[in-house]
Amino acid sequence: MRKGMGVACLVFGCAALLAAAEVNQDWLRKVPAAERARANPYAGQADAIAAGARLFADHCARCHGADLEGERGKPSLRTEVVKNATDGEIFWLLRNGDLRHGMPSWSGLPEPERWEVVAFLKSREWREAGS
Ligand code: HEC
Repeated sequence: MRKGMGVACLVFGCAALLAAAEVNQDWLRKVPAAERARANPYAGQADAIAAGARLFADHCARCHGADLEGERGKPSLRTEVVKNATDGEIFWLLRNGDLRHGMPSWSGLPEPERWEVVAFLKSREWREAGS
C-alpha cells in the first residue's frame, strides 16, 4: 500500500513538473471581452515605460529574467503571445495571475504601476535590444 502510494506520487510529481515546464496560454481564454479591450492610459509614454522597467526588475525578473528570456523553467516574455496580447489582457493577467501554473497575482501593486509594467512589456525598446 505504502509503496503503491509512493509510486503514484512519483508519477503525479512528474506530471506536475511537465505541466510547469510547458507554457500554456489558458489564461488568455479566461479574459472577459471588456477587460481585453481596456486601454493602457500610459501606453508609449517614456517615463511610464522607464518606471515599468524598474518594477519589472524588482518583481518579475526573478522568474522571467532581467532580459525577459525566462529563468529556471519560467517562460520567456519575448514571445509572439506577449507581443500579440492586448494591453488589457496582460493587465488582467497581472491582477489575477495564473496561480495554477505558477504566475502570481500582482493585485497588491497599485493599478497605475501595473499599467506601467504593461507599458514596459509592450514597449519596443526591449524587443529590439536583444533580437
Ligand atoms: C514566481 C515566478 C513568477 C513571477 C515573480 C512572475 N511571473 Fe509571470 N509567469 C510565471 C509563470 C510560471 C508563467 C506561466 C503561466 C502559464 O503557463 O500559464 C507566467 C506567465 C506570465 C505571462 C504570460 C506569458 C505567456 O506566454 O502566456 C506574462 C505576460 C507574465 N507572466 C508577466 C509577468 C510580470 C509582468 C511579472 C511581474 C509583475 C511576473 N510575470 C512575475 C511566473 C512568474
